[in-house]
Amino acid sequence: MLIVKNVFLPLKDRWVEGVVAVENGKYRSILYNGDANNGGANSFEVDSGGSDQILDFKDEEAYLIPAMIDPHVHVREPGFEYKEDWSTCSRAALKGGVATIIDMPNNKVPTDNSDALKIKQQIAKKKSYVNFGLYIALTDENSKYMAEGSYEKSICGIKIYMSKTTGGLVIDSKETIESAFYQTKPVLVHTGGLEGLKKVLSVYSRVREKKEGLPPLYICHVSTKEEVSEIKKWKGNFGSIFAEVTPHHLFLDKDSYRGPKRVLPPLEGTDDLKALWKAINDGTIDICGTDHAPHTLEEKHRENPPAGFPGLETVVPLLFDAMMKKRLTLSRFLEITSGAAEKIFGIEISAKILEGKDANFTVLIKKPWLIGEDGYETKCAWSPFEGMKVDYRPVVTAINGEISYFYGEFSKKRIKQVCV
Ligand code: NCD
Ligand code: ZN
Repeated sequence: MLIVKNVFLPLKDRWVEGVVAVENGKYRSILYNGDANNGGANSFEVDSGGSDQILDFKDEEAYLIPAMIDPHVHVREPGFEYKEDWSTCSRAALKGGVATIIDMPNNKVPTDNSDALKIKQQIAKKKSYVNFGLYIALTDENSKYMAEGSYEKSICGIKIYMSKTTGGLVIDSKETIESAFYQTKPVLVHTGGLEGLKKVLSVYSRVREKKEGLPPLYICHVSTKEEVSEIKKWKGNFGSIFAEVTPHHLFLDKDSYRGPKRVLPPLEGTDDLKALWKAINDGTIDICGTDHAPHTLEEKHRENPPAGFPGLETVVPLLFDAMMKKRLTLSRFLEITSGAAEKIFGIEISAKILEGKDANFTVLIKKPWLIGEDGYETKCAWSPFEGMKVDYRPVVTAINGEISYFYGEFSKKRIKQVCV
């Protein structure tokens, strides 16, 4: 049994100190200090035979939370291994308190058919340190099979690129876009901005007139106040529209940002940042995805750099710090980092610290950290947040009940493929 002691646990929007015991990959018991019903966490029995693994945080201010499920990651392998591969990417996830990553299909050779999915699955199983899921790209060629639901059993969702980005996949035809709404897995859209957003929403509502039941529509990286108000309007009528925000659009604005340039959608002004934070708090924005999109520094320093920022190592520390500074509530923090992903993708992987659930968690301690001071796990080895100070950082991450990250040490344990 693994026992984690003297940690604060989230309980109904507040923190309560307690003990967590994990066995066979799942939470076996969760005890809160001062809980009269079970005698309190202090009464917890430790195996006298000494076979328990005990992590005691009595000398720290430590917080145990469900590890993040990151639904928007560009792992890059196969094809762009010089930027990132499954092992470096998933180690970055572990260090950042992320237990599950869902990989985008814009590889060098796009992931747009069953063979490509199979190849990626094999690599991920062999190399990933964290749980993983896969997306397939919609193309004019595969749209017929998409509508028939041919790939549903091996994917977490379908990705539609409506404007050009890394990988060069672009869909323009409304008929092709429509095909994605005839199967059941979530449809994720890179809209390219307000115009694309309106276009996909109109196709989505047209399909509702033709058939019962729609798959979730997931709008990637919302970045402007105009997109926020458009989405807010539509969400009143559709319970199945979800909006994502990235950490770089929340924490970096175009006027003060000085790091390596270019990301899609571009960074915006402080008014937009304000609208995004408000939308997190009022529920217009449902979920955070890093859009972890590594490119080498050499590429980023070129005259026309490829678009994309890495984000796996920094997302949880940044959002946790913001939560402690009251920019968002504990319950919204938990919802956007893991709760919403479970619901949208229909996976039960880590969003609740409850007896019987898979134990995918991370422990953060209070200790000032300058981003970048201890280097990076991502192969691209830089961060748009470099030099920013946060007060908390993950020191332990457990995957399916086993410690896979421990104060800078990594070990590959049993991982799961999600959505399959
Ligand atoms: C992403 C990439 O490099 O794969 N780049 C980015 O700027 N966000 C692709 C994408 O999500 O647009
Ligand atoms: Zn992306």
